[in-house]
This record gives sequence, structure tokens and C-alpha cells, in this order.
Amino acid sequence: GWSLHLRETVDSTNAEAMRLLMGGQSLPLVVLSERQTAGRGRRGRNWLSPFAENIYYSLALRIESSARRLEGLSLVVGLATLQALRALGLWDAGLKWPNDIQVRGKKIAGILLELTGDPADVCHVVIGIGINVNMIDAGEIDQPWTSMQLELNRLVDRNELVSELNRRLFDYLSLHADQGFSVFQEEWEANHIWQGRDVGLIAGSHQVRGQVLGVDSQGGLRLCVNGEERIFSGGELSLR
Ligand code: BTN
Repeated sequence: GWSLHLRETVDSTNAEAMRLLMGGQSLPLVVLSERQTAGRGRRGRNWLSPFAENIYYSLALRIESSARRLEGLSLVVGLATLQALRALGLWDAGLKWPNDIQVRGKKIAGILLELTGDPADVCHVVIGIGINVNMIDAGEIDQPWTSMQLELNRLVDRNELVSELNRRLFDYLSLHADQGFSVFQEEWEANHIWQGRDVGLIAGSHQVRGQVLGVDSQGGLRLCVNGEERIFSGGELSLR
């Protein structure tokens, strides 16, 4: 079993999930909020979170021993989220490694994983997912974005979307916990928007250029760089 924690306003559903987890609440647990006052994005960015328009969802889980169970986890979350968007009729969305969800170059959903404990032993993870659902204008976003309403030209039922998301996520995560990432490799690549394309990857202090070959069995990015295959575990991709 799992528990659902509904909020009207929180700083961040990830922070709220972390507090519940630290307070000893049984896991898994899900936090949903109508708004966030300090929504967190990747790379220290802020995630715009207006009232009642979008989905702000966090799932806290215990991960039994091992780095192996974390391999490819964020890619699997991306895939489950993408399939939930498709279930509501949004066919044009795709994945950008490692876990962005975009429609024609515009961001529609984002994923932020936060870990506590020792990844080599038992640890806890909070999986935060933000989906732009019925937001149609937002002045302050510093990157191209879109929403389900803008793409589908209709209001989207957030309850329906959340139930699809939650169901798919639990299904995908249990398969991932049993079998690891390799069983998702093919499905993930089939949904990668930049499969086969020439890209730049900013990894740490340097930029690498190469062609996207796909992902490996641990969720690493496979690039062909100067005729050689190389694997990257982190970084920010751009088209070149
Ligand atoms: C990104 O930058 O792509 C990740 C954005 C993640 C946003 C979601 S909204 C629900 C959860 N709570 C947060 O504070 N962030 C995540």
C-alpha cells in the first residue's frame, strides 16, 4: 500500500515528501499540491508552479541496497511520464536524455530526483514530476515551454492525468526494481527525440560533440565521438 498527501500550498512537493519521509511516514508515499511557492527544477532552477493549473507530484520510495537499483531510474520515470501524457492523447511528446519531456523542442514536463542515504546501501529517493497541464501563459520561464492545453486545444482533466501517471509509474518502477534498466532500453530509444542526431553534450567543464547512438543498459548516453563509441552518465544535451 501507499499513502496520498494532498496539499493546497507547499514550498515544494519534493521538500514536503522529504519531510514526511524523515518524519517516519510509511513508504511509498505520494504528495500532490495545487501550488508550489518554491518549486525546484534541475540545476538550481526554479519551477513555475501556479495554482490549480498544473501537476506537482512527488513520490518517495525506499530503494533496497545498491547502486544497481538507481541505474536508469530517472530515464524510467521519464518514460512512464511520457506514456501518461500519451494516454491523454498527446502523441507528439518525446524524451530528451536524461529525462526531459518535450514537444517540438518545447518543454512540457520535468523530473527531479533527490536522494538521501548511501546509494551503495539502502537509500531513499524522492521522485518529483512537474507537468504543464492547463497553463496557457507564464511570463517568467527562461526556456521554450508548452502545456497540454496548448498542444491539445482543450482543458485536460488533471485527476485523469494523475491517475494515469501514478499507475504507470508504479508499474514501471516495479519492473525496474526487478529487472534493471536494460528491459527499457529499446522503448526508451524509440522515444528519444534526438536519436541519430548530431549533438553537443556539456559534461562538467568541457563540451563533447557526437552523434547519438542511444542509451546503454544502465541509462548512460551512447555517443559516437570521432568514430568511437563513448558513454556519458551526465550532462546537458543540445542540438548542434
Ligand atoms: C526540471 O528542471 O526539469 C525538473 C522540474 C521538476 C519540477 C517538479 S514539480 C513537483 C516536484 N517538486 C519540485 O519542487 N520539483 C518537482
